[in-house]
Parts: sequence; C-alpha cells; structure tokens
Amino acid sequence: MILAIPDILTGAELGEARAQLEATEWIDGKATAGHQGARVKDNQQLARDNPIADEVGARIIAALHKNPLFVSAALPLHILPPMFNRYSSGQTFGTHVDGSIRTLPTGQRIRTDLSCTLFFGNPEEYDGGELIIEDTYGEKSVKLPAGHLILYPSTSLHRVTPVTRGTRLCAFFWLQSMIRDDTRRTLLFDMDIGIQRVATDQPDHTGVIQLTGVYHNLLRQWAEV
Ligand code: NI
Repeated sequence: MILAIPDILTGAELGEARAQLEATEWIDGKATAGHQGARVKDNQQLARDNPIADEVGARIIAALHKNPLFVSAALPLHILPPMFNRYSSGQTFGTHVDGSIRTLPTGQRIRTDLSCTLFFGNPEEYDGGELIIEDTYGEKSVKLPAGHLILYPSTSLHRVTPVTRGTRLCAFFWLQSMIRDDTRRTLLFDMDIGIQRVATDQPDHTGVIQLTGVYHNLLRQWAEV
C-alpha cells in the first residue's frame, strides 16, 4: 500500500520546524548512505548528533501517534528516529532500495517494513524533487503539500528526481509494523476504514461490533508485539 496522509504537521508546528531546519548545519548525505546508496545519492542531511534533528524528530513522532489514519495504516511497532534531507541545485537520489535492518544506538535492530517521507515545503516552491516509487502496478510520482506524509513499502525501489529550482526539504524515516506482510496490513486497514464508515452512518448496527471483533481477532492472529 502507498498512502498519502495529510496534515501530520500543521500551521505553527510546521513553521517552527522549518525555521529550525533552515537555520542549522547540513552535511553531505553520502555520510549516511550504504554501499549501494552512496553511488546514486547526492543530497544534504542533518548529522545524526544534530540536536535539531532530535527535537523536530520527537515532535513528528508525537504527531504520528496522534494521527488515526497513520496508526491504522502503519500499525507501528517501532518508529525509527526521523532523519532530514534537502536537495537543491540539481541534486538527486537515483534508484535504490532502503536497507532492510537498521540498528539503533542502543543496539536494538529494527526491520524496515514501511518508509515515510514528510514534506516541509509546498510543491510550487521547487521544481523536480518528485519521489518516484516503483510497485507492481508501475511507477507512482509523489510530491505532497507541506506537512503531508507518504507511507510506502520499504521493499519498493524508489528515487528522487533532480531538484532544478528551489529547495526540497523533507523528513524521512522507517518503521517496523506489527504486521510484517503488506497484504495483511492493507486488508486490516481497508477493514478498519470500512467499519468506521458503517459506524458513522449506522452507529447502532449490530454488525459493527461483530466486524470490530473480527478486526481485532485478525490482529491477534497476525501481530508481532
Ligand atoms: Ni530511500
């Protein structure tokens, strides 16, 4: 499933985060690329020990946990600390696949089931910079309004097209889902959305309780917690 989630950050939160990110020091993105990624990666990132990354990252994580659409779609078990990148002057990130396992400073290993990109700028502020995600149905081109997030399977090949005007500023991060399998996770998400629709239109319908039970019993069958 590839899903756009609107308004993770809004108004003042977005403005404050953006001002902090624009004022801090950026380093060559190759510093954090794997062997394969370094050959096709040309961007800038915040250093891992930059306190602004921790601060803005913590606000993003808090916002994610409060977002029902994100929680329903991702069913997150572990969310890795957000990282930040920017592209300008023709910078680009060629086709690659994200590493499957990431290790936290604590030594804890996290499987990357879902990749997320959160946009800090609006599409009209820069040319290029589309995130192109390849899936079994072809390519999807993604360039979202400020504060919106794209959620996509970490198994996908993807790239960022050259930014030929302005600057593209984003947060990106990975998560391990309670539901490893994308097909099962998508089924649960569709079911949750369907139940919520019926519950809104017909709150007293007895089927709502039964279907909610099926949802939780499937989650119980499939979840790693
Ligand atoms: Ni990537």
